[in-house]
Amino acid sequence: MGNEADRRATRRIQIAPSILAADLAALGQAVREAEAAGADAIHVDVMDGRFVPEISFGRQMVAALRRHTSLPMDVHLMVAEPQRHVGPFAESGASAITIHAEAFAGTVPLRGALESIRAHGIPAGVALKPVTPVDVLDDLWDAVDRVLTMAVEPGYSGQAFMPEVLPKLAALARRVRDAGRPVDLAVDGGIDEETARNCVEAGATFLVAGSSVYNTRRTVAEGMAALRAAVSRQ
Ligand code: DX5
Ligand code: ZN
Repeated sequence: MGNEADRRATRRIQIAPSILAADLAALGQAVREAEAAGADAIHVDVMDGRFVPEISFGRQMVAALRRHTSLPMDVHLMVAEPQRHVGPFAESGASAITIHAEAFAGTVPLRGALESIRAHGIPAGVALKPVTPVDVLDDLWDAVDRVLTMAVEPGYSGQAFMPEVLPKLAALARRVRDAGRPVDLAVDGGIDEETARNCVEAGATFLVAGSSVYNTRRTVAEGMAALRAAVSRQ
């Protein structure tokens, strides 16, 4: 118990606003506001109309946003055949790339794609849809720098958080501890003050937040401050 409290006290939770929820006609401003508000990274959701129904941003968007922020650009590839896109996104300024486990036929090709991300000198992430079990990562812990646990079906901002993801986060946190190496435990989808607190309690170290940061109810600075306050009162 004491150790758990110490661990939380010394751990700074990272917060990455997801620009999918911002005004898409003003993304330069959206990333500048996030940086000014103390964001740790910018989360860029890439969708191809195949792996998920919608189409969103390409690598040119990452390159364009690179000129508006010095924050790490955290690229979440919701695409089929993600291995084809690792090089182009890395060369366009991605600071970390996360690929979906469900886009691969098995552990061997997934490992190969993770290795190709690291070969560009950036962290390699694996995203899991809400129903995907944590044991798909069983033989991969040496190859993974971040696990992105989806708390909504990938594809859209503004969906409700699925609470069944909390025990999954806790199971992942145990496996990260067993792996004995630093792996970010990220959660994406439906993150607001309440769900952020619950996720951190379950072991999350990295929060992706779209519509709780970018909305018409409050400024980006207010949204970021509210999330930060929620997770620093653990
Ligand atoms: C959904 C995306 C998320 C999304 C999060 O597929 O991966 O990053 O933008 O938005 P909210 O926080 O509104 O659920
Ligand atoms: Zn995302």
